[in-house]
Amino acid sequence: MAVKRTPFIAGNWKMNLDHLQAIAFVQKLAWALADAKHDFADAEVAVFPPFTDLRSVQTLVAADSLPLGYGAQDLSAHDSGAYTGEISGAFLAQLDCRYVIIGHSERRQYHGETDADVNAKVLAAHRHGLVPVVCVGETAEDLEAHGPSAVPVAQLRAALEGVDGSKGLVIAYEPVWAIGSGQAATPAQAEQVAAALRGVLGEVLGDEVAQATRVLYGGSVKAANIASFLREPNVDGALVGGASLDIDEFSSIVRFKKHVGA
Ligand code: PGA
Repeated sequence: MAVKRTPFIAGNWKMNLDHLQAIAFVQKLAWALADAKHDFADAEVAVFPPFTDLRSVQTLVAADSLPLGYGAQDLSAHDSGAYTGEISGAFLAQLDCRYVIIGHSERRQYHGETDADVNAKVLAAHRHGLVPVVCVGETAEDLEAHGPSAVPVAQLRAALEGVDGSKGLVIAYEPVWAIGSGQAATPAQAEQVAAALRGVLGEVLGDEVAQATRVLYGGSVKAANIASFLREPNVDGALVGGASLDIDEFSSIVRFKKHVGA
């Protein structure tokens, strides 16, 4: 049963671009895609700026009716209260964020986020009508010790505990060894893990949700390799870090269908 999943190209800016730079960047990105006559039915596009940029991006997207989605890079597991420095999903919803990245490996690695934290954040995102982009992925040591799928599969299972699949989610498979290293996984490696993750979605949330959910690949995605990933049946897009900060490169990734040999 072939379900059509619109490819999704997501730009994770990480801690780059302040709100003034964000305004210029989003405007130029929209122009570049309009100039190229990008058909958003070929690929949905979203950017994930730092928190302090989101209000500016919201204002620009709304004022110019730009066909771009946006979201935050994290949220609090809590809805409000004495949590200094945290950002509630309620605030992100007020800024018309559609998405929120959860459990990025940099959050897991540098901020000690556990699978239980990731699960609590997925539930928080859903409480506020946000679509979580749940990141999973193995380190080089995990790969050596357990093979490619075991760790991402276990992380996803934990992230989905008590989750209502009808509220929508996106999964991003990002091998930690491929992030920012210039050494992407092979399309076959990405497909193997994406298929395993879709299997988990089916077991936990049912086949319909599994078929409708987009599973992205992330880790050193560029214009030169995007088409090869999207040729794989279970890879439905990309979470792009470094290359999402370059307008030409990112718009070329978005327009992967146009690439020679794609
Ligand atoms: P990269 O980062 O594209 O720079 O490898 C991907 C990510 O961390 O989401």
